[in-house]
Amino acid sequence: MNNKFYSVKPILDLNKKQIFIETYGCQMNVNDSEVVLSILQNSGYSLCDAPESADLILINTCSIRENAEQKIWSRIEQLKHIKGKKAHLGIIGCMAERLKEELLENGVVTLVAGPDSYRDLPKLINNLSESNKQINTILSEEETYADISPVRMDKNGVSAFISIMRGCNNYCTYCVVPYVRGRERSRDPKTIINEAKVLFENGYREITLLGQNVNSYSWDNNQFSFWMLLEEIAKIDPLLRVRFSTSHPKDMDNAVIDTVAKYPNICKHIHLPVQSGSNAVLKRMSRKYTRESYLERVEYIKKVIPECSISTDIIAGFCGENEQDHMDTLSIMKEVGYYTAFMFQYSQRPNTMAAKNLEDDVTPQDKNRRLNEIISLQNELSLLSNQNDVGKVFEVLIEGTSKRSDKELFGRTSQNKVCVFPANEQKVGEYVSVKVLSCSSATLKGEIVK
Ligand code: SAH
Ligand code: SF4
Ligand code: F3S
Repeated sequence: MNNKFYSVKPILDLNKKQIFIETYGCQMNVNDSEVVLSILQNSGYSLCDAPESADLILINTCSIRENAEQKIWSRIEQLKHIKGKKAHLGIIGCMAERLKEELLENGVVTLVAGPDSYRDLPKLINNLSESNKQINTILSEEETYADISPVRMDKNGVSAFISIMRGCNNYCTYCVVPYVRGRERSRDPKTIINEAKVLFENGYREITLLGQNVNSYSWDNNQFSFWMLLEEIAKIDPLLRVRFSTSHPKDMDNAVIDTVAKYPNICKHIHLPVQSGSNAVLKRMSRKYTRESYLERVEYIKKVIPECSISTDIIAGFCGENEQDHMDTLSIMKEVGYYTAFMFQYSQRPNTMAAKNLEDDVTPQDKNRRLNEIISLQNELSLLSNQNDVGKVFEVLIEGTSKRSDKELFGRTSQNKVCVFPANEQKVGEYVSVKVLSCSSATLKGEIVK
């Protein structure tokens, strides 16, 4: 990869064809949009910031839950009225992969491209006309976009995502990802390390390594595994913070945890999705760990990295979940003491194993009540976790000016907690030591100490 060709800013050029990109879903989709922009900038397109002025509007979509797709359908309806007469509307990403031609049927969408076909976009767009709609939803076993330098669309210029692998082989029974993202494949570590170095040289101070299950990253016939990659990235510079997501509990080994402990610049935060605290439910989800083995992993993390924060994902009301299963989820939350969590009601996805073999039998009322109980417990746990930090000093990487007041800055601690404090001379991208003086369940408030 040639550093010289690495561009970190979108090009704005009104003489060129204008594209507008809107992104939904997870961090991997955010990074994919940056790959798409890179490909399109190289073939003469320029990014614009309003759909009204675009020649081409792309929506990068998510299929993870039914409401994620519903949101996109209403957005398509809105854009039908917003977009110029000659503009094209393209659907890319996971929903493109799942629904394919169905998306072309309403006459608004003229282009459909799945997550592995982005290199084909310039050709598809060239051939595009009202009477000649374009679609490519072929999944690949090799594509990792390893040689493409994503064009960063984020505003702060401090933190960036790097995808280290694509796809997923786990087939958790509720999940659509393996069907819309294809087989798991790892990206050449040389290209990952180089991308991280170039980002650092361009002023970035935090990178997050992304994959659906980063712990199963593997290169060179299993000779090079995730903890080695983590170590290589950490060694680039002590001022470069490293994060990673997502860890699957079944593959979270001691070597990764030990590496996090060893390097001060690998952030002391582990996102470890539990989904449920009940063994019966975990089995039906095909998660391949038990409550006990999950807790054993948490125990090891707490032993080796006492200051580590742990967050999670939880699904309420999966097939066959009874009140006792639900209580088991509440109790594991307390036992681990998550500092934050992403919490969802189970949403049946067509063609998944759960849709084929299990009954979606928890009533909407019960799903809703259980989710609310999970959310209010998490609020208590988040507050407790933050209260525990009051009086302590943390190193914070400054990300920007607080939304509430321009006299305040905000950033994150290594534990990934948002921290707000009065501004001095410091700038975005710098590290400061902040003493925590008070907190809510969502933020720490403090002041800079020398
Ligand atoms: N690869 C990650 C998760 C990716 S999807 C992992 O294995 O942890 C993010 C989260 O969405 C999942 O952790 C799960 O909690 C939730 N999710 C996935 N499918 C869902 C469904 N059908 N209904 C509700 N939540 C779902
Ligand atoms: Fe979905 Fe499971 Fe793969 Fe995560 S590990 S993306 S939940 S199938
Ligand atoms: Fe959604 Fe696709 Fe990510 S389904 S969660 S955007 S991998």
